[in-house]
Amino acid sequence: MANKPILLITRDMPPLVEARAIENYTARLNREDKIYDAEGLIAAAEGVDALLTCGTEPLPRETFESLPKSVKIVACFTAGYDHVDLAAAEARNIVVTNAPDALTDAVADITLLLLLGAARRAGEGEAIMRRGGWIDKHLLAMTGSEISGKRLGILGMGRIGRAAATRARAFGMEIHYHNRSRLAADWEGGAIWHKNAESLLGCSDFLSLHCPSNAESRNFLDERRIGLLPQGAIVINTARGDVVDDTALIAALESGRVQAAGLDVYRGEPHNIHPGYARLPNTFLLPHIGSATLVARSGMGLQALDNLDAYFAGKQPPNRLV
Ligand code: 8YV
Repeated sequence: MANKPILLITRDMPPLVEARAIENYTARLNREDKIYDAEGLIAAAEGVDALLTCGTEPLPRETFESLPKSVKIVACFTAGYDHVDLAAAEARNIVVTNAPDALTDAVADITLLLLLGAARRAGEGEAIMRRGGWIDKHLLAMTGSEISGKRLGILGMGRIGRAAATRARAFGMEIHYHNRSRLAADWEGGAIWHKNAESLLGCSDFLSLHCPSNAESRNFLDERRIGLLPQGAIVINTARGDVVDDTALIAALESGRVQAAGLDVYRGEPHNIHPGYARLPNTFLLPHIGSATLVARSGMGLQALDNLDAYFAGKQPPNRLV
């Protein structure tokens, strides 16, 4: 078909996504999966109508200002868009979309994995087995915390927060949450709303972060707020690393003020993560794999294509941000 829009896809895509992109677009692929730096991205975008980008390509103001005039839309293969300067995109009249739906279950699953892993010291146990060791015979060796009957505080009760709540409820946890506004009863599912985050912290035996990273939430979990958690609380983060003040959390993990942390995201990831986390025995750490299932990653790519298809059909992209 002539006149297919030219689409630059910045990363190697799941097969379903690549096949559909090739069918509907003149697709410029990146089968080597070499990550573009800003300069490389701008050069590769020459003559391109649309970009399908991932979280590995930050899109700050300078990048938008330098993108070729041909670029009309950027479809992000991410739910979060803290790496995108939306105001700069808007100033250039470039449409930006995200992909918020397909990863919900995968990230909610990882939340429970982190929660259980941190509570039951799975990282420590795994490390012992891999060293060919075993645990002390004492019956209190490697005892962790049970999660049933505990209070789970969810900061940000959006799609993923609610899906995590559903799972945690099945484990017998009592769900508390803070959102700016209270959810409708059927979305709340019996969860207890806290008008302010401080009150949520006070009753979070487990605290799970599900808020976007923005000016308001950055450094949210600092020393003062950690001090509001119950003694020995467990902290879970599948949202964004910069919602946590690393120095404060690491100090609290060292002192036992916070019993354990289960983390999938980090400030400075992938290369400048605070080294303190990996040194501690009471952290359960994953390398940002919340959405890493074939179903979720394929769904995210297909949703990005849905947005592009709508745009090029002259319709409103369903997940338009600007
Ligand atoms: C992405 C994410 O899958 O979608 C998000 O916001 O954090 C990730 O799970 C990853 O960045 C791929 O682009």
